Amino acid sequence: MSDHKGFTSSFGAIAAAVGSAVGLGNIWRFPYICGQYGGGAFLLVYLCFVFGIGMMLMITEFVIGRHTGKTPVKAYEAMSPKHRGWRYAGLLGMVACFLILSLYLVISGWTANYVFDSARGALTGLDGDALERYFNVFSRSAVRPVLFIAVFLLLVALVIMGGVQKGIERVSKILMPVLVVLLLILCVRSATLPGAAKGFEYLFSVDFSKLTSEGVLAALGQSLFSLSVGMGTMIVYGSYIPKDDNLLRTSVWITVCDTLIAVLAGVAIFPAVFANGLSPDGGPGLVFKVLPVVFNSMNPAEGVPVGTVFAVVFFVLLVIAALTSAISLLETLVAWRSEEKPHHRVRYTVILSLGVFVLATVLSLSNGVLDGKIVGKFNLFDLADHINSVYLPPIGALLTVVFLGWVANKNDIKDELSNHGSIAIPWYGIFIFIIRYVAPVALLMVLVTGIISGIEN
Ligand code: TRP
Repeated sequence: MSDHKGFTSSFGAIAAAVGSAVGLGNIWRFPYICGQYGGGAFLLVYLCFVFGIGMMLMITEFVIGRHTGKTPVKAYEAMSPKHRGWRYAGLLGMVACFLILSLYLVISGWTANYVFDSARGALTGLDGDALERYFNVFSRSAVRPVLFIAVFLLLVALVIMGGVQKGIERVSKILMPVLVVLLLILCVRSATLPGAAKGFEYLFSVDFSKLTSEGVLAALGQSLFSLSVGMGTMIVYGSYIPKDDNLLRTSVWITVCDTLIAVLAGVAIFPAVFANGLSPDGGPGLVFKVLPVVFNSMNPAEGVPVGTVFAVVFFVLLVIAALTSAISLLETLVAWRSEEKPHHRVRYTVILSLGVFVLATVLSLSNGVLDGKIVGKFNLFDLADHINSVYLPPIGALLTVVFLGWVANKNDIKDELSNHGSIAIPWYGIFIFIIRYVAPVALLMVLVTGIISGIEN
């Protein structure tokens, strides 16, 4: 067993994992894809996937991580020494984390810039067109986005250097409750605006005619991304979970929190969007181009600019969400590299941060200065985003469930789920059935459809 230190309590473990799960995926991405694929019907399908498949993947990764106490590459080896090839599945996860983190940093940098610019009033008073122009000029410029990437990454790296307990666990225990409070404030404001009812109707009324097969696949992809599974992150966090924690209960808590926060983000956004007569299907720009219009409309002609205050609250919320997720991604990489040399944690944090910084900068510049460098019809940023959302998560997730369902020793799994027989696991049969048959088939379908539609485009 490894000697690396883990989380000190069940609450700490849940806070850190919720911190990883709740991110841009919940607050930036979930509302806009929910908007694109018709609201309530999408939500319903999403709920099925999150609990039926995503949560099973989380349990799978926790089992692998906590049983071996190792990071993915070594964990696969330790769990099945006869099949050494599986360590490449772990390695794939590391590559994926590196890529996701680089992209994540670009969008997190935008978020940090929006905190700064809304706080100094640079967005106040701009109308929809002006806000669109503002976003385009900003995201395509060379210096500012990169500067904000650097600032954000520095915060992430400092927490990682603080260690698992004094850095990650402590920060998550503070920031997650703050995040919930900020989100609730925004929900109350949005839900009480005149005309808000339309937003609720949009989010919760179920109309399956609007849900395309593409929407169903997007729901599955989103459920994996949102729970941070498929890349080995939850294997690493699993190795930090206290040995006497109930893995099912922990996973249920994390999944419920993650899903509630995504839904609350929808509640904070759609009623306000409808109350202003704006379109809910703004796509990726929803948060950066549409919401500032909403905030501006809350500013009174004179007196305290409450809309601007809400704007700052919203973007701070987004920064917090992004921060704890980016921490989990960098931690996965740092834990992997420093597994045998824990005393070199700081050194590896610096090296890896510099690495992701370079890639994030290139991706950011590909929106502007480097835009000529196009791969197919995508620029580099779009290409990375595509690989990231369409291919890597289902491949990683597929390998993980196949490994646990078909390769790993069943007694090891039972031992880990039941804490060596001290808790009853009547659901074990269902779990194994899902990870052996249901999840692989569903994941293969997403993958194949993603590849086909990628070729067609
Ligand atoms: N779950 C995070 C979000 O919703 C993103 C994330 C963090 C992630 N760590 C991950 C996604 C690991 C996949 C794998 O924004």
